[in-house]
Amino acid sequence: MSNPASPALVIAQLSDPHIFSAGQLMEGRVDTAEHLRQAFREVDRMQPAVNCVLLTGDLVNNGTPQEYANLSAVMGSNINRVVVVAGNHDDRSELRSTFPQLQGIGSAYEPLHYAVDLPSIGDDVDRSIVVLDTTVPGLHGGELDEGDLRWLYDALDLRRDRQVLIAQHHPPYLSGIDFMDDYCLKGASAEAEVLQLFTNIVGVVCGHLHRPSIAAFGGTIAVTAPSTAAQVSPDLNGGVTAYTNEPGMFAVHRWDAGSFVTHFRTIEPLDAWSPSWALAK
Ligand SMILES: [Fe+2]
Ligand SMILES: [Fe+2]
Repeated sequence: MSNPASPALVIAQLSDPHIFSAGQLMEGRVDTAEHLRQAFREVDRMQPAVNCVLLTGDLVNNGTPQEYANLSAVMGSNINRVVVVAGNHDDRSELRSTFPQLQGIGSAYEPLHYAVDLPSIGDDVDRSIVVLDTTVPGLHGGELDEGDLRWLYDALDLRRDRQVLIAQHHPPYLSGIDFMDDYCLKGASAEAEVLQLFTNIVGVVCGHLHRPSIAAFGGTIAVTAPSTAAQVSPDLNGGVTAYTNEPGMFAVHRWDAGSFVTHFRTIEPLDAWSPSWALAK
């Protein structure tokens, strides 16, 4: 079946890069800075061109000024083009200092809740990303309190005339990977109740889990993007925190007037090959 695709907005979601100070590797073995550089090189190679790059938290590992300085050096001019979500390894004040687009959104340590209105691509559909800060300073688990949920309701209520994507760090569902679910999101069921009041939410995109996963949530779909740095083991028996030898990865969302589709790909260029039957056509 061949069906020409309609024009669409393409969002690259890079998550959990966990940048360290210059020259330092994650656990002495993963060059997270090089992984993030590689992810941006891959994003820049994509066709059609990516319209928006979303960074869904844990941009650095320990929240220090030295790590944010290294993040700035690694990202270069990409610093100015990204939509940033706070993660539990981040520091809100350092995020505001590092990303010019975040200055003016609340004071230094307030939650980084905000919305970005996106350009319409080839159709008349207006779209927004609503960024929700699920972090609690000093904790690895997330929480949405009454104030956060009121902000979310108001942000969605203002945007009933458009399609909305919600971006947040902590996924609002349990993954079944016990050592990650220990740091889950409190207030997720209350968030679902808010989302169920709206019919224009195309999805909730998250990070934190360090691997791709999908769940029904609040009348829409929630997904986690894998990490550009390292993926956690998908072992549903839980146990000790463990990573795998999978490559760094990121998510690509294709959003047109009628659909929102998520793909996952590696940060490394892929060698594509065609089967003989396709070449013979
Ligand atoms: Fe992370
Ligand atoms: Fe996290």
